[in-house]
Amino acid sequence: MVKICCIGAGYVGGPTMAVIAVKCPAIEVVVVDISKPRIDAWNSDKLPIYEPGLDEVVKACRGRNLFFSTDVEKHVAEADIIFVSVNTPTKTRGLGAGKAADLTYWESAARMIADVSKSDKIVVEKSTVPVKTAEAIEKILTHNSKGINYQILSNPEFLAEGTAIEDLFKPDRVLIGGRETPEGRKAVQALKEVYAHWVPEENIITTNLWSAELSKLAANAFLAQRISSVNAMSALCEATGANVSEVSYAIGKDSRIGPKFLNASVGFGGSCFQKDILNLVYICECNGLPEVANYWKQVIKINDYQKSRFVNRVVSSMFNTVSGKKVAILGFAFKKDTGDTRETPAIDVCKGLLGDKAHVSIYDPEVTEDQIQRDLAMNKFDWDAYEATKGAHAVCILTEWNQFKELDYQKIFDNMQKPAFVFDGRNVVDAEKLREIGFIVYSIGKPL
Ligand code: NAD
Ligand code: UGA
Repeated sequence: MVKICCIGAGYVGGPTMAVIAVKCPAIEVVVVDISKPRIDAWNSDKLPIYEPGLDEVVKACRGRNLFFSTDVEKHVAEADIIFVSVNTPTKTRGLGAGKAADLTYWESAARMIADVSKSDKIVVEKSTVPVKTAEAIEKILTHNSKGINYQILSNPEFLAEGTAIEDLFKPDRVLIGGRETPEGRKAVQALKEVYAHWVPEENIITTNLWSAELSKLAANAFLAQRISSVNAMSALCEATGANVSEVSYAIGKDSRIGPKFLNASVGFGGSCFQKDILNLVYICECNGLPEVANYWKQVIKINDYQKSRFVNRVVSSMFNTVSGKKVAILGFAFKKDTGDTRETPAIDVCKGLLGDKAHVSIYDPEVTEDQIQRDLAMNKFDWDAYEATKGAHAVCILTEWNQFKELDYQKIFDNMQKPAFVFDGRNVVDAEKLREIGFIVYSIGKPL
């Protein structure tokens, strides 16, 4: 029986390993983490992350061939294939602070693998890492190897939160990079066989290590760049009377552009887009490519611009002050179908409004009150959208939860101060219908 161990039971480690376990009953999969509360939650009825379809997958194989444990060293020592899916945040101090990836967690995982291993291992980079990381990992492992053979593979993850299970069941592609040596090719083949249990062979791409590592950063940069492009257009739409949804539809009909990922918004969020682009910028700078670095930096600048443009629009529309006014925030997660708030644009928008002395009142179906307190150092959470909007001067929609389309806006309007404003940062509501009720509606990239 092949044994897999995954270090890091987070948004990536948990769902990816659960799907491997459910699709490969003959493989034993153990997910380990240094965080006891996280592992306890994975072993409980309330999983640590909200992800549609995840509960069913975990229930189907937990205790059968899927296990969650804090006994990191034991399971690493026993495994044939070790996935490393620890966090790789942006460095906050020292060389490259604010841009470079912080590989502290990765390095400590690698050193631990070297310490406890007694048999040959395939070590898989699942975390998103700078191109050339495998070389550093290889050095750490081989310099401490005690004669053990390590093969490093890059197998970046492309799942998106909110659709993780769907994405893992039917990935557009699985990417595996390895050394171009006989041992390297053998390791690539071994990992390929795991995925081949459910992914069609033509969707499993194999490349050299550096292409695989860089492709992950490139994919996220391209995706984020599309959003900044459409968000830049949204500003021009507002200035000219064009409608960004019509523009997106029209350009997306071009098969070379394609219709997906062209929704204008209050800005992209999530734990990865900004971090990975900053990392890419840093790598470009280190390689003496300032023009390339500046090109990608602009994607983040437009995103920051979009968030502050939204705040400015709210304040200027409400007679240049929100001081003392209640502003209801509908949606705090960085996108729908997740409770994740990492880098959510809602944090910047709320901070902007609080800076102008607004009283904000937040409702999100999946984000907890504790989380909002950690993100904003304030305690203004409501358990339902009607409570949050009661007595408010304005409503800001910051996450595209489906339920926000179906709210009783007449009831909301009746309980609000007048004039009642709606600032739709996700273009989820029917602005015309709301205007008929009496709201003043601002939708991103659309005529007033
Ligand atoms: P996360 O913070 O949710 O999970 C990481 C886990 O690793 C944490 O639970 C932490 O306790 C654990 N950990 C850290 N160091 C450890 C160690 N030495 N030993 C054992 N456990 C350790 O992070 P995530 O969102 O799952 O992201 C992980 C990686 O995957 C990142 O590099 C990220 O860029 C990448 N990624 C994330 C997504 C996503 O949707 N979140 C998608 C694709 C790729
Ligand atoms: C993104 C990528 O889509 C994944 O392929 C990748 O694996 C992952 O990052 C990662 O490396 O972490 P994720 O951040 O979970 O996934 O979610 P996305 O659906 O990409 O959304 C990111 C942000 O962009 C959200 O705030 C979302 O609301 C925003 N967005 C997305 C838009 O504003 N407009 C769009 O058209 C699409």
